[in-house]
Amino acid sequence: MINIAIDGPSGSGKSTLAKEIAKRLGYIYVDTGALYRSIGLYIKEHQIDPKQKEAVIAALPNIHLELTYEEGKQTVYVNGVNVGDRIRTPEIAEITSTVASIPEIRSFLLSLQKDMAARHDVVMDGRDIGTVILPDAQVKIYLSASAENRAERRYKELRAKGIEITREEVKADLIKRDHADETRETAPAVAAKDAIPLDNSALNLEQTFEAAMEIIRKKLNEILPNRI
Ligand code: DC
Repeated sequence: MINIAIDGPSGSGKSTLAKEIAKRLGYIYVDTGALYRSIGLYIKEHQIDPKQKEAVIAALPNIHLELTYEEGKQTVYVNGVNVGDRIRTPEIAEITSTVASIPEIRSFLLSLQKDMAARHDVVMDGRDIGTVILPDAQVKIYLSASAENRAERRYKELRAKGIEITREEVKADLIKRDHADETRETAPAVAAKDAIPLDNSALNLEQTFEAAMEIIRKKLNEILPNRI
């Protein structure tokens, strides 16, 4: 199987890029943030304090996650219910960042992610894909952009969803969350040593896509000539 890992901080445009690459190559796009966010949603809906590690861990046996793909679009079901856009709020992002630092949560999601990559050609995005989940991925890209750029994109995304929030709040949340993700003990959000960095601060969507495809073509041609 071909595995393409895309890691990077919040708002770097990982999901947009990963989706587009998966579409072009006919691979499955796996949004691992949605899995963590679905656990965050369960924790919120069951009024569990995300900072109470033991309570969060105790909830795990009650959480059954399922991933489905329809026309390339990933849908996550928690105990049979589609999480939809409920996982996309700033509150869920904050809860998720807290629970994602718990090692038991990360190992709970490990086999689901590894299993997808073992059975399908995938483009998987997240924070620890190149380092922990798919250390042997044929292509690893670390996508980043300046904090200003990332905050502006996230702000527009949230406003488009009708969420009332200011630019300043978005930027402050993003910096706080990235710091927590990058400094946690288990699977911190850092670039794998063999990841190719791609900074898209000065690139539009099309240019980012072309730059990423160039990296992918080059890498895959080295190992599998004429594959793409
Ligand atoms: O990519 P995102 O914004 O949907 O991620 C939501 C949160 O989940 C973020 O705080 C980082 C965490 N996360 C993680 O720890 N590991 C992943 N592979 C994906 C997301």
